[in-house]
Amino acid sequence: MAQHKIIIDTDPGVDDAMAILFACAHPELDLLGLTSIFGNVTVDVATRNALVLSELANANVPIAHGAGRPLVQVPRPVATEVHGADGFGHVPPITPAGSPDGRSAAQFICDMVAAHPGEIVLCPIGPLTNLAEALQLDPSIATKVKSVTVMGGSMWAGGNASPHAEANIWQDPHAAETVFAAAWPITLVGLDVTHKVICTNTQFAELAKAAPTNGGFLNEISQFYFKFHDEVDGFYGCYMHDPSAVISILHPELFTTEDHPVKVVLGGDQAGQTVITDEPGRPAIKVCSKVDAEQVKQVFLTTVATAG
Ligand code: RIB
Ligand code: CA
Repeated sequence: MAQHKIIIDTDPGVDDAMAILFACAHPELDLLGLTSIFGNVTVDVATRNALVLSELANANVPIAHGAGRPLVQVPRPVATEVHGADGFGHVPPITPAGSPDGRSAAQFICDMVAAHPGEIVLCPIGPLTNLAEALQLDPSIATKVKSVTVMGGSMWAGGNASPHAEANIWQDPHAAETVFAAAWPITLVGLDVTHKVICTNTQFAELAKAAPTNGGFLNEISQFYFKFHDEVDGFYGCYMHDPSAVISILHPELFTTEDHPVKVVLGGDQAGQTVITDEPGRPAIKVCSKVDAEQVKQVFLTTVATAG
């Protein structure tokens, strides 16, 4: 029986695709829906890609269209150099059979949390705009979710979108600040741990053999992502950012956390930087500081290998 009801808020995106196909394949995750957000791609492309992934995995979950721009700041460019022109590396756009849920992402999140009080884990793996808008729509969701696991931020590892900021927070610092200030139980899975979880092209080639549909698709779309990491980070493989966040929900024992209240720098050169604060009244967040990277990789590879 599924033990964790989750909603993934996502900007697919190559590593988002890994996280979503992993979630669809894992028997202990009950994926209630996907909500789309701008970030790696525009929100329209993110919505289309979320539908494609849900259909590929035969999950056919609701997909709710999310925010198309940040709360306050001028939109940043999408990450075509990392994820390709349409989010799936060199793979051209795919037309899904289905269409999105009629509700906005924020409304969908509020409705689902109200329908399953105390049960839902929200797992944002893109900019936090939809979660901030959901909080504005219904602040009581903060006390009704089970927890929130965010892929984003960096306390000690430096940035990836800028020298200071991790991409998901950099894309909408004001939204992240709203989410981190709210009184809900947050775990932050940031670059401090995701930069330790690295898969190789050989591991994805093996995954393609074991699971030709799901693993094969991930192997195909990841070729561009491997090349990016080769050119920018000096290794032929990839960081497993978004899957690590989903895996932390199932296997918290593989992550060491520290409790810290966290603030976000809202403007200037350091916009999007996440910093530990002693500001009174701000809730502590479980910040992941260490990870058993080998075990996280094994959970990912062995699960997706069963996906077909
Ligand atoms: O910094 C890593 C994050 O940025 C991941 O969510 C990746 O998909 C990109 O959006
Ligand atoms: Ca992402």
